[in-house]
Amino acid sequence: MKLDIFTLFPEAFEWFQSQRPVRNALAGGSELNFVNYRDSTPLPAGQVDDAPYGGGAGMVLRVDVVDAALNAAYADRADPRVVLLSPTGRMLDDALVRELAAEPHLALLCGRYEGFDQRVHVHLADDQVSIGRYVLAGGELAAMVLADAVIRKLPGALGHTDSAVEESFSEALDGAPEYPHYTRPAEYRGWKVPDILLSGDHGRVREWRLEQSRLRAAGSD
Ligand code: ADE
Repeated sequence: MKLDIFTLFPEAFEWFQSQRPVRNALAGGSELNFVNYRDSTPLPAGQVDDAPYGGGAGMVLRVDVVDAALNAAYADRADPRVVLLSPTGRMLDDALVRELAAEPHLALLCGRYEGFDQRVHVHLADDQVSIGRYVLAGGELAAMVLADAVIRKLPGALGHTDSAVEESFSEALDGAPEYPHYTRPAEYRGWKVPDILLSGDHGRVREWRLEQSRLRAAGSD
């Protein structure tokens, strides 16, 4: 997968890029690029935003600036699926993550200030995605959440090929939360690991796990 992140703050992604799943994905042939709107702005002095028509607080990212950034990055706009991060977008969930992870090329647009001129939403983005119904200071954290969730679905990102297959909300668990995990010690301060997990009976362990997952889905955990 090729993932391009459009932002005014590429440095915000430094920690993210150093994370193991991201490095694994890059070693496996995926690409992660950052595009700063300021580098291609047609306005003087690196200007990228402007005051809203009709008045009001804050600044709005300009449509001509975002368009110029996309044009500078892509000869053929049909190429990437352009996803704009917005608190009012389609809510991110495992199904949407899977859908995006299947794309060969994604462009994520991060906003700042009061967000984007509405014409960016309507004419330049293919999708608008929200990570929750609250407003962040910018789209960078939302883009990191989306990119993290997508990248860990890519083959080889987790090192252990099936670890993203059977996890919370996956198809393998019918969209239910994952079952609980335990590790050593088998008993700590009287808190015991369920006997079944120590039994070595893989069939019964499997049944127990699926049952736990169903119970969690029903809200009884
Ligand atoms: N930008 C600001 N807040 C956001 C949110 N909740 N989801 C996606 N993008 C955002």
